[in-house]
Amino acid sequence: MHQTTESKITVQKVKNSRIAQVDFKNLTFGNIFSDHMFECDYINGSWQNPTIKPYGPLTISPGAKVFHYAQAVFEGMKAYKDDNGNVFLFRPELNHERINKSSVRMAMPEFPKDIFFEALETLLQLDQEWIKPGMGNSLYIRPFSIATQVGVSASPSDQYKFMILLSPAQAYYTGDVKVVIAQKYSRSANGGVGFAKAAGNYGAQFFPTNLAKAEGFQQVIWTDANEHKYLEEAGTMNVFFRINDTLLTAPTGDRILDGITRKSVIDLAKRSHIKVEERPVLVSEVVDAAKNGTLKEIFGAGTAAVISPVSAFSYANVTYNIPSNNHEYALKLKKELMDIQHNVAEDTFGWRH
Ligand code: COI
Repeated sequence: MHQTTESKITVQKVKNSRIAQVDFKNLTFGNIFSDHMFECDYINGSWQNPTIKPYGPLTISPGAKVFHYAQAVFEGMKAYKDDNGNVFLFRPELNHERINKSSVRMAMPEFPKDIFFEALETLLQLDQEWIKPGMGNSLYIRPFSIATQVGVSASPSDQYKFMILLSPAQAYYTGDVKVVIAQKYSRSANGGVGFAKAAGNYGAQFFPTNLAKAEGFQQVIWTDANEHKYLEEAGTMNVFFRINDTLLTAPTGDRILDGITRKSVIDLAKRSHIKVEERPVLVSEVVDAAKNGTLKEIFGAGTAAVISPVSAFSYANVTYNIPSNNHEYALKLKKELMDIQHNVAEDTFGWRH
């Protein structure tokens, strides 16, 4: 164990790396974690003992509030390696801002920026062999914060644990993505936590998503909870609809995650003079466009999913195939985004870190 004078983080390295056991060509998303993890505890009103240690199990009381009231938030980020071995993060300051916004909404303490960045940089330095170069390869980064105070009174915890895990990743979806437009279940409501990366937002989607999967679809596109009239976001992605040559996507707000890939796609599209409208998107206009042939593409955008073209959607038990077999905008924007992330293209936006 050592702690340098400039560094706040205590580092305990693994004795033997597990990397030789990993088949990097056949990864399933999120199942394997790298050698090290970061841990920091919030006790008596401050974050203490930031530590990097070998990845492994935790000991937490079963009475901890996270298990009873889901006081838990997380982030999704990725690190990329170029062909010269340089490692990059993509717009990480936005993930830091967002986990703090999510934390505030869940009555949890914000995490300091300096420790967040020092933890990321130290972890990536230690586990750099886990980041493979080449398009489509990345190291998925999962920061999260959980309530650790013991007690089942329904009130905010006064103790928390902030952690960062690293997981080597390739594609999130393999093959076609088909989606169902929600008519009964809802993901979020006005005044709720839809905009936050609160763990419960995701767990609550599993049941309706299983119903969609049983019908041969991978995801649900959520609609507004009041009338199920407007298209909002998919399970792990923001969604874009191309009608004629215009891209439509729902505006962010109380109910919709302010996706970093979403934001980046909008900037990349505008740079190519593609018209983008951030406005409420009616289910009926997309169904009408599918019927009259003006719906050219649907795609999802998210850190894990990158940009995933949707090949069909179902609404009111009718399946509409998206005619575009070339996914023109999705593939163009995906290439431009990945070229920046992997240091293949010039970073005119200043997104690489
Ligand atoms: C991400 O894209 O980072 C996500 O949040 C998806 C995750 C739920 C797998």
